[in-house]
Amino acid sequence: MPLAERIRREAGIPTAAVGLITGGRQAEEILRQGRADLVAIGRPLLRNPFWPRSAAAELGERIEEPAPYRNYWFETGMRHEA
Ligand SMILES: Cc1cc2nc3c(=O)[nH]c(=O)nc-3n(C[C@H](O)[C@H](O)[C@H](O)COP(=O)(O)O)c2cc1C
Repeated sequence: MPLAERIRREAGIPTAAVGLITGGRQAEEILRQGRADLVAIGRPLLRNPFWPRSAAAELGERIEEPAPYRNYWFETGMRHEA
């Protein structure tokens, strides 16, 4: 995170932050504060393949499910109706 932030600031190029980003609110803060242009998620996605859905819910946001997941999201009651 500090490296992504410093490279972005000093070299003026887009950077991605990765490492120990575990929640939606944390990811959103990094982007809002302009510390990185993109957040990448590794191990939390291994633990929870629905991490984007969980992060969106944490932020009170609605996201469209990826087509291959559509039935599963629906079955688990997490699909957001338009
Ligand atoms: C199973 C696994 C495979 C990974 N493979 C790569 C890889 O091929 N190249 C890479 O740059 N980083 C790889 N990483 C590192 C992740 O991209 C990431 O930097 C690291 O897991 C820290 O982020 P996290 O806290 O979100 O997991 C891997 C991590 C894991 C857990």
